[in-house]
Amino acid sequence: MRVTMIGSGYVGLVTGACFAEFGFNVTNVDQDAKKIKDLEKGKIPIYEPGLDSLVQHGQKAGRLTFTTELSKAVSQADIVMIAVGTPTRRGDGYADLSYVYQAAEQIAASINGYTVVVTKSTVPVGTCRKVAEIIEKTRPDLKRGVDFDVASNPEFLREGSAIGDFMRPDRVVIGTDSNRAKELLSKLYRPLYLIETPIVFTSIETSELIKYASNGFLAMKIAFINQMADLCEKAGADIQELAKGIGLDGRIGRKFLNAGPGYGGSCFPKDTLALSKTAHDFEAPLTLIDAVVEANDFRKKAMAGKIVAVLKARGDIKGKTVSVLGITFKPNTDDLRDAPSLVIVPELLKAGLKVRVYDPLYYAGSERLDHAADFKGVEWSRDAYSSMQGADCVVILTEWNEFRALDLDKLKILLNTPKGFKPLIVDLRNIYKPSEMEEVEYVSIGRGRVEA
Ligand SMILES: NC(=O)c1ccc[n+]([C@@H]2O[C@H](COP(=O)([O-])OP(=O)(O)OC[C@H]3O[C@@H](n4cnc5c(N)ncnc54)[C@H](O)[C@@H]3O)[C@@H](O)[C@H]2O)c1
Repeated sequence: MRVTMIGSGYVGLVTGACFAEFGFNVTNVDQDAKKIKDLEKGKIPIYEPGLDSLVQHGQKAGRLTFTTELSKAVSQADIVMIAVGTPTRRGDGYADLSYVYQAAEQIAASINGYTVVVTKSTVPVGTCRKVAEIIEKTRPDLKRGVDFDVASNPEFLREGSAIGDFMRPDRVVIGTDSNRAKELLSKLYRPLYLIETPIVFTSIETSELIKYASNGFLAMKIAFINQMADLCEKAGADIQELAKGIGLDGRIGRKFLNAGPGYGGSCFPKDTLALSKTAHDFEAPLTLIDAVVEANDFRKKAMAGKIVAVLKARGDIKGKTVSVLGITFKPNTDDLRDAPSLVIVPELLKAGLKVRVYDPLYYAGSERLDHAADFKGVEWSRDAYSSMQGADCVVILTEWNEFRALDLDKLKILLNTPKGFKPLIVDLRNIYKPSEMEEVEYVSIGRGRVEA
């Protein structure tokens, strides 16, 4: 069976390489010629643990190839997956479906023999049927059910652990009204049946909504625990203990209950917005999701305010320097899309602070700095400690492992600390226990204390 993946970004590349690992012949297409050239040479354009060896393995076995020529790749495929971006449309919050629709037209022009066209991109309910309409309109000679079928197969992998997530998913969701498509897609996911992965077959519409409902629910968990953290701080309670206390309830679950600076990344922010728009359009408003979006926007600014406030408590902040550790939206990814740092860092600069940044993937001399153009006005450091040299405060913004055991003796020497104060660390990820940090002023999230 031949699979063609349209789009070789975080999802298309991981998915393509994993299907090749399962033994299928996969062609990964992208319109970005540089990306394809790099991939052909074995250079991986994104940071995703384990992806380089998986891609190499597929290439060596001759099962994974890369091309910019969509038409040839589509004409030979049994299954074509659309894995292009669906970012927020400028100005109105809807999902921008232009890449999906453009891909659908291009695919239509090249279909040759029965093909299942699958939307793997996260798309609003109704999109997959629109893809079918575009194919029929572009190629009136093609009959749905005879020459092609469509299916929705949303992707749930997480950046940073994408390969494990894809190879051992909690479930696979497939939405289609065609038995033939169902059969082909069942064959494609057969290796996962063997490890007893639940495969959930649904209607197209349900499948499209499952993806948004999942992300909306997870975003809601995060927004909830962040607001509970604020309450804990004021009421003298501890958010870590609270999260454990509620998370052990099987109905709630422990995951996604880490208080932090707000969710970011390439999915939750855009998907919650798009879900809210869809719900309003169908006159079935999801006011919970509207509140989540608002709470998360507020959260990021509030975190910048928190940093400024602790610094102000030490005197005039003009010209003071903040060392920011970590800017990606989570560890083990180079993805900066909608990262909280994109709001927090500019807010710090606006407040008159100088900002020095170190991230394990974005540092002085790193090739990736080209992708960090949004961080205008910051000074890039080459490691965590050089970013602290003479700084007035350290902010932990992303919980990369290398920040979990900072050398406090070194940090105390490097930081500039006014008389009568302790060196200042603001930890927006709660990666330390306050009891371990008594030598410094350790400000974290949701750990209130009532004086005895
Ligand atoms: N990134 C994630 O963690 C994640 C997880 C689950 C689902 N998703 C969803 O998957 C989709 C893809 O996300 P991503 O992060 O991989 O995006 P991405 O921006 O990393 O990659 C998209 C790729 O598609 C290419 N492309 C666009 N139009 C094309 C065309 N007509 N022909 C060939 N190539 C084309 C682009 O050049 C780009 O390389 C989105 O809908 C996203 O919401 C993403």
